[in-house]
Amino acid sequence: MMNENRNLTILGIESSCDETAAAVVRNGREVLSNVISSQIDIHTVYGGVVPEIASRMHCEQINGVIRLALKQAGLDFGGIDIIAVTKGPGLVGALLVGVSEAKALAYALHKPLVGVNHIEGHIAANYITHPDLEPPYVCLVVSGGHTHLAVVRGYRDFELVGATQDDAAGETFDKVARAVGLGYPGGPKVDKAAAGGNPHAVEFPRGEVRDRPYDFTFSGLKSAVLNYINLANMKGETLNVADITASFQKSVVESLVSRTVRCAEHYGIKTVAAAGGVSANSALRRELAEACAGKGMRCLYPEPVYCTDNAAMIASAGYYAYLDGVRDDEFLNADPNLKLGYR
Ligand code: KG4
Ligand code: ZN
Repeated sequence: MMNENRNLTILGIESSCDETAAAVVRNGREVLSNVISSQIDIHTVYGGVVPEIASRMHCEQINGVIRLALKQAGLDFGGIDIIAVTKGPGLVGALLVGVSEAKALAYALHKPLVGVNHIEGHIAANYITHPDLEPPYVCLVVSGGHTHLAVVRGYRDFELVGATQDDAAGETFDKVARAVGLGYPGGPKVDKAAAGGNPHAVEFPRGEVRDRPYDFTFSGLKSAVLNYINLANMKGETLNVADITASFQKSVVESLVSRTVRCAEHYGIKTVAAAGGVSANSALRRELAEACAGKGMRCLYPEPVYCTDNAAMIASAGYYAYLDGVRDDEFLNADPNLKLGYR
């Protein structure tokens, strides 16, 4: 029998996209190890993630990554109380590698198994960086596949108040990066290129969704950037990549920040957090912090390593799921389309 009052040490496993990751986290907040094996170099050759290659790479990497996470934590399997794994959303073949591994470990070691929603994992990354953070707060979740605005009412209680109507924020960064020739992965490259550019050089649109004040739309912006580039190419003009990326980034960041702060004001919530790969963006971090300061709100985001995909955030979310009574078994399956708040 597990003593609920003692320390709980969780092994987190993440394989939803192109990072194979394992981490050991104590009581949802204290990271003992965080190992991430990125496949970026392989996928870069193809200009984006190739699902079949991702699955194969996860198979090759996962045992070594878990072994390393245990070693760095100074533990063996006997020191682990719970196994938490991303069950979705993500690429189905990639998810299945982590889910199968976690099920095999839980079964062989007689440890409880907890399937975790990847988006809830991104939100939980804030508990690692900010040990005093407790709900309620408003969370902007911006990753390669998702753009959500949620009121986090409890550790396991999410009210989804806004989402993208089309492309995710990270996906837009990646597409613009490709169009200006920066390649994959686009977000960090745009962030870097934009630092030397003029954000007012090109007036790109800020997408609004009628009657949906907290929803996002980025397809119009993406088309505007692509049209701008095509026109410049047709005229034989050299692209000013720094100015284009800075102007594009400003439009995305303004859309994200304005809705997040308006949402927090509307719900009377004084703490705002960001999460997901795009929350590593330097302009977003700066502008969200400034906007929150102007309204007397606390603004939080995870350390950059916990913004992009990692397993520490999965272990953290798994801890709260476990405390909430979640117990999975050998029938746990990957759910590539899992939504925030669904289990
Ligand atoms: O959360 P994440 O690692 O994976 C998903 O769950 O999707 O997010 C990856 C996304 C990619 O689209 C990547 O380009 C974007 O996050 N990203 C960034 C930055 N770092 C990563 N976008 C803008 N600025 C960054 N610094
Ligand atoms: Zn992610």
